[in-house]
This record gives sequence, structure tokens and C-alpha cells, in this order.
Amino acid sequence: MSLEFHQGRLFFGKDIDLTEILKKNQGHACYVYHLQVVKERYQSLVGSLQSDYQLKVHYAMKANANKDILKTFKEMGSGVDTVSGGEIAIALDNGFQASDVIFSGVAKSKEELALAIEKGIKQINVESPQELIRIGEMAKSVNKKVAVAFRMNPEVSPETHPYITTGMSENKFGMDKSFLPELLRILRRFPQNLYLRGLTMHIGSQLLELTALAEGIQKLRSIYHDLGVLGFAMESLDIGGGVGIHYKNNDDEEDFTLIQNYGAMVRETLKDYRGELIIEPGRVLVGRCGVLLCQVEYIKQTPYKSFAIVNTGMHHLIRPALYQASHRILPLKEQKEASKKLYDVVGPICESSDFLAKNYPLPKLKQGDGLAICDSGAYGYSMASTYNAHAMPNEFSF
Ligand code: LLP
Repeated sequence: MSLEFHQGRLFFGKDIDLTEILKKNQGHACYVYHLQVVKERYQSLVGSLQSDYQLKVHYAMKANANKDILKTFKEMGSGVDTVSGGEIAIALDNGFQASDVIFSGVAKSKEELALAIEKGIKQINVESPQELIRIGEMAKSVNKKVAVAFRMNPEVSPETHPYITTGMSENKFGMDKSFLPELLRILRRFPQNLYLRGLTMHIGSQLLELTALAEGIQKLRSIYHDLGVLGFAMESLDIGGGVGIHYKNNDDEEDFTLIQNYGAMVRETLKDYRGELIIEPGRVLVGRCGVLLCQVEYIKQTPYKSFAIVNTGMHHLIRPALYQASHRILPLKEQKEASKKLYDVVGPICESSDFLAKNYPLPKLKQGDGLAICDSGAYGYSMASTYNAHAMPNEFSF
């Protein structure tokens, strides 16, 4: 599914006329989601992973918790991975069963854990010995047995932006295997209230290279085996998310190749594994399903630069400012002449980090022109804010 021009106007797929939507939204910035893209990607990912283990997808809803997107996942049989009490509540409100919900996150509060325990969610991914004690004590006080998985830090170095690696020794996430004796002592203190159902990891996001992921899975598998030998009835391995998308490409062929390679790598690494395999993908499933529409408020030509000043920015899509991420930008109106100009596409926020692209080649723009900031379905709206007291963008899904 791609962005393509029909009779001079940019469409999402064959039927979504983006100019119409921007007009309907009175020119204000808005996100547009194509749910078919989510379905295609989910099916491709699930297809690539089929093997002798029992696969369960838990969509990482932090990537995009739009109601229609959640409904699409629910209908396809996916569960969710949550990272806050707020996300657990949204998932349950949107029809997910407690048994579809995993709770990850490094700083779970008592209130959040109380919600997870009361609802009886499928699994809490534990990030520290103190957290395990807190869960044990809270479960005991309400006489419940809680299923936990230990989040291991496999100490691998994925190739990605330093802000989104999570499985290296310097990261706050997960636990080194030297924590295990202490964790097992805590489990033994709460035999009626804690139950170790598996292990989990998540080493980073936007991974286009899979070696570190394979190494992490092998390490996780080996700890899983050792715990089984010690007599723990392990039943589940959760290998996190992290598969990236090729933001620079217009077509998504390379994304599908990466999904196939990921599936092949996981099947090969876990070929003798028969338990439950959980994955927590976010970006790879929703990144390409969304575009952020905006329009040019002003063109400002200085002796040094051409600025296209638009009505969206880092408050709606923070990825360029925070991770130096590049998102393709397309004009909503096709321009036949080949000549392009280099623009800094910038927003209304009073910060120089408020840019969507720098020195970006676009056809000559004028006031009122519409633009689509592509591939912004993941970590776009979910990281948006009302900074400078701007409104949140509307969302439309089809
Ligand atoms: N599981 C856990 C425990 C995670 O922390 C994450 C993402 C995922 C799964 C899903 O990862 P994905 O498949 O989407 O890579 N805001 C950043 C990305 C932060 C990712 C945080 N954790 C960005 O815009 O690039």
C-alpha cells in the first residue's frame, strides 16, 4: 500500500484522497491512518513466524493507541503490550480481555500494579528485584497469584539511535543474569502469590539489522533452559519488539523483506522450542499506516535558507527533533516540473529544534499548499503534546 498521485492529487492507496481530508479538517494538521496497511503487515509478520511454538502477538500500543487501530488488532486476534496503568485501562476499555494484556515498564507504581493484579492480566514483565517484592507483597495482601516474567538485559549492542537501545549494560531496562539468585529467593518467599511463567527481553527499536536480536534471543533461551532444569515450569518466551521500517524508501518492499528475514531468524534460533512465543511489535505494524497532513502557513526566504513554515511541528511529531529521524515529505498536489528547491520544513513551536526536515527537496511551495509527512503512524500521535498550548491534531482512520 503506498502513497500515490491520482489526477494530480496525493492518495493513500487507491481511495483515500488526502486533499479532501485536509479540507474537511479546515486545513488544520491531522493524522490519517489506513487500517489495511496494519492488516497486511500483521498478516505478513504472523505468516513469517509460523513454526512449532505457539505464537502470540502483543501489539506494543505505545506506538499508537488510536481506537480504530486497537480495534483492528483485536479483531485480528492480537493482544497488547502496555507500559502504564493508563494503557491497561485503554486496552480494557477497547475490548481486550485481561488475558490479552501484558504489563511492561521500568517504574510500575503501586496504583498501576494494583490495577494489573485486580484485573488479573496475563503477565507482568518484571524489571527489578524490588519490583518483584512489591508485586509479591501486593498479591499476598489480596490473596491472588500473579504471573510474572523476568525481563532480562541480554547486553547486546543493536545498531540504532542511542536513545532507543534498551538491551545494553548501560541501559536502565531489564536485569543481568547475575540477578537471578536473588529473584529466585524472592519467588520462594511468595509461593502462593508469584508464579514465574517466562522470560522477556526488548533490546531496542528501529532495528534494521538482526544480529543483536538473534544473539539476545539465544541468551534468553539459554537462561530459560537453565531455569527449567532448576524446576521452574517455564512456559513462555517474550522476545519483545524492535523490527524497524525503511523510512527513506517510497515503497515498502524492503520492509516486507525484513519481516521475512526476521521470521526466518526467529524460527531458526528457536527451532527446538515448543512453548509460547510472545512478540511485542509496534513500529513495524503501524509506522507505515499513518501520514501527518499539514499546510504551509508562510514561505520565508532568507539569504541563507528557504523555510516552509507549516501548521504542525515537534508538538505533533517529535521524532525528527528527538532522534534526528527522517520522514519523507510529499506535496498533496503533484508538480510536474522536475526542478526542486531545498526547504527547511519547520513548525510554529518556539524552539529551533522544531523542524520536520532540513534541506529537504520539494517542488516550489506556496502559502496554503498541503504536505504529507509520511510514515508517521508509529510514535507520532502517541508522543504528541499540546506544547505552546496548541491543540492536539485530529485523527482520521479508514
Ligand atoms: N516492547 C517494549 C518493552 C518496548 O519498550 C517497546 C518500545 C516495544 C516493545 C515496541 O518496540 P517497536 O517494535 O515499536 O520498536 N519513540 C521511539 C521508539 C521508542 C520505543 C520504545 N519501546 C521512536 O519514535 O523511534
